[in-house]
Amino acid sequence: MNAVPPNSASLIAALAGVLSDGGLLTEPQDLARYSRDWSGDHFGRPLAVARPSSVEEMSALMRYCHAERIPVVPQGGLTGLVGAAVAADGDEVVVSLERMNRIRSISPIDFAVVVEAGCILEDAKRAAEESDCILPITFGAQGSCRIGGNVATNAGGFNVLRYGMTRDLVLGLEVVLADGRIWNGLKVLRKDNRGYDLKQVFIGSEGTLGIVTAAALKLFPRPTQIETALVGLRSVEDAMALYARARRDCSDLLTAFELILRGGIEITMREGKDFPEPLGKPYPAYVLIEVSGGGLINLKDMLLSFLAGVENLVEDGVVASTRAQAERLWLYREIMVERQGRGGRYLRTDVSVPISKLADFVTDALFELGRARPDALPVTYGHVGDGNIHLNVVPPQGMKAEAIEHLFEQAEAEIFAVVDRYGGSISAEHGIGRVKQRAFLDRIDPVTLDLAAGIKDAFDPCHILSNGRILASASALDYR
Ligand code: LAC
Ligand code: ZN
Repeated sequence: MNAVPPNSASLIAALAGVLSDGGLLTEPQDLARYSRDWSGDHFGRPLAVARPSSVEEMSALMRYCHAERIPVVPQGGLTGLVGAAVAADGDEVVVSLERMNRIRSISPIDFAVVVEAGCILEDAKRAAEESDCILPITFGAQGSCRIGGNVATNAGGFNVLRYGMTRDLVLGLEVVLADGRIWNGLKVLRKDNRGYDLKQVFIGSEGTLGIVTAAALKLFPRPTQIETALVGLRSVEDAMALYARARRDCSDLLTAFELILRGGIEITMREGKDFPEPLGKPYPAYVLIEVSGGGLINLKDMLLSFLAGVENLVEDGVVASTRAQAERLWLYREIMVERQGRGGRYLRTDVSVPISKLADFVTDALFELGRARPDALPVTYGHVGDGNIHLNVVPPQGMKAEAIEHLFEQAEAEIFAVVDRYGGSISAEHGIGRVKQRAFLDRIDPVTLDLAAGIKDAFDPCHILSNGRILASASALDYR
């Protein structure tokens, strides 16, 4: 059941007809911005870019695309990094949410914000803060990613260990279905046990089941105290022992626990004199710890006494004395993420294993990687309080494109084999998209695949939505 677009002139005229002024882009220079993701690694030129400005326009657009079997791919901020939101080259209409970016309502009494899918995460976070609340989804791409993409990918980030993934923060959704019907599940109720919780089906579905147009998200009281420390350790094992202690001693005030191995710190230090050796001397592993909260407990004192009690684990450390200093410590983490790709392409992974196994997993995975490809530079960091680690691989300088491909394939296979041994997940954060699809389908059991294909058929019976992401084929029967 492959979709066959009508000839492009009539398609363009029809799409323009259902959108308000400026809603349709077709010129090559206008399409460029929607054709490549943040990493630059994933590229696909759309047939056109449709930019509805209301849920009604989105509904009309999808009704037309459904009737004509036009394949579409919803697109947010293009920071997902697994190729889910770029078009299949020349084959799909990109549906950009960027003109649906309003904050519809915010209530510090309900602790909820209702926000359109095209709103940039940072703008939604700012609105929450203006109401003396926080929206706790937090990560490097928050200045570019959009709420709809956060929902569609079930985004994670730095604060998951305290507040959960995006899934845990969604109270309700408004979704335009593949056939153009509007599913109104937008509510701010904390408790609602009426039948199936349909919103969960759309969260993390990567655009394959419907187009999220608005989300009601949980807010939390804005912390009056945030304390940040960077500590140096002998090993990942010590970092995980420190985590176990922090989880008990700091209780739910622990907001972030980010591991960075030495190689990552060295990448940031390449920025130059603004990023000197962060502690007195180099250490094999570093952890960024953040505690936050309000109320009567003095968090600085709590953090200092916690660190004083773990001197057997912590070799050295610094506690930020101002917000500016804390932000500087976080920059070591953020700049590393950007800079690791400065020399060209690198392999990204975002795997997870049970927290209790994380240290052994990292040791084994790095050993296998080093044995198979001693020429590759691993860059290892992650949200280890969630058992989630980014084990990335930078190729040696000057390596040719074809050899890089081969290196990435080999390195990924080595890492994923160790993930399998530890009963882990090959995608803890960024999803499957197209990039992880083969590894995902290689591991899926037939019952899961059957149920997943059934869900796809039920929500998108003509298969016009984000085909070839997560599941492989445009044809329902081919999935199985
Ligand atoms: C991070 C993103 C890339 O952890 O997942 O920085
Ligand atoms: Zn991450």
